[in-house]
Amino acid sequence: MTTTPSALTQDELKTLVGQAALQYVVPGEIVGVGTGSTVNKFIDALATIKDQIKGAVSSSVASTERLKALGIPVLDANDVPALSVYIDGADEIDGQGHMVKGGGAALTREKIVAALAARFVCIADESKLVSALGRFPLPVEVIPMAASHIARRFEALGAQASLRLKKDGEPLVTDNGQHILDVKGLTIADPLAFESDVNQWPGVVTVGVFAHQKASVCLLGTAQGVKTLTY
Ligand code: 5RP
Repeated sequence: MTTTPSALTQDELKTLVGQAALQYVVPGEIVGVGTGSTVNKFIDALATIKDQIKGAVSSSVASTERLKALGIPVLDANDVPALSVYIDGADEIDGQGHMVKGGGAALTREKIVAALAARFVCIADESKLVSALGRFPLPVEVIPMAASHIARRFEALGAQASLRLKKDGEPLVTDNGQHILDVKGLTIADPLAFESDVNQWPGVVTVGVFAHQKASVCLLGTAQGVKTLTY
């Protein structure tokens, strides 16, 4: 029995785009690696060509552990002046390549590694494609003592911000030792202006809008197969 694309599960679509991203990996170079369940599929695919690359710069402790477990060398971002490509997932992506990211709490390091790269290749299943950012609760990494103040600033915009908690009810602590606010009810009409504005609020470490570091390419897993969107 053959599997038609329409029969593919979301997990299978993630595997497809993770494998498709290998075409953007430059032999002999270091690749920037994001975080999340879609990127985990990419890391698994990358392991099959690990002898053709120098290694990876990782955006989270979780991705670092997975890369190392598969025998892929992980380099410190401080030792790598530039990358040709950064490959990462997204929680939302719009028609211009602007994204919301941070569902996995790795947004700050993701933005740092993306900033090193000439090209951001987003890998996502089609559920992530939106006409305008704002459906997914916007992650914002904050210094813990500023969380309530920042939440009130979002409330003044008509949104609702809540501190991300772990299963035990304690605040989630990021790889950088900070907290995450998840903000519902935002309309992000101008992603570039919104990112610039919120990023300069005192206590904001990183806002999960990636407009200044938007995608150059999106490999979108759809019922018809992998679509390549360029921006
Ligand atoms: C992590 C991220 C991820 O890229 C985003 O949450 C998408 O994850 P997934 O591939 O698991 O849907 O920004 O901070």
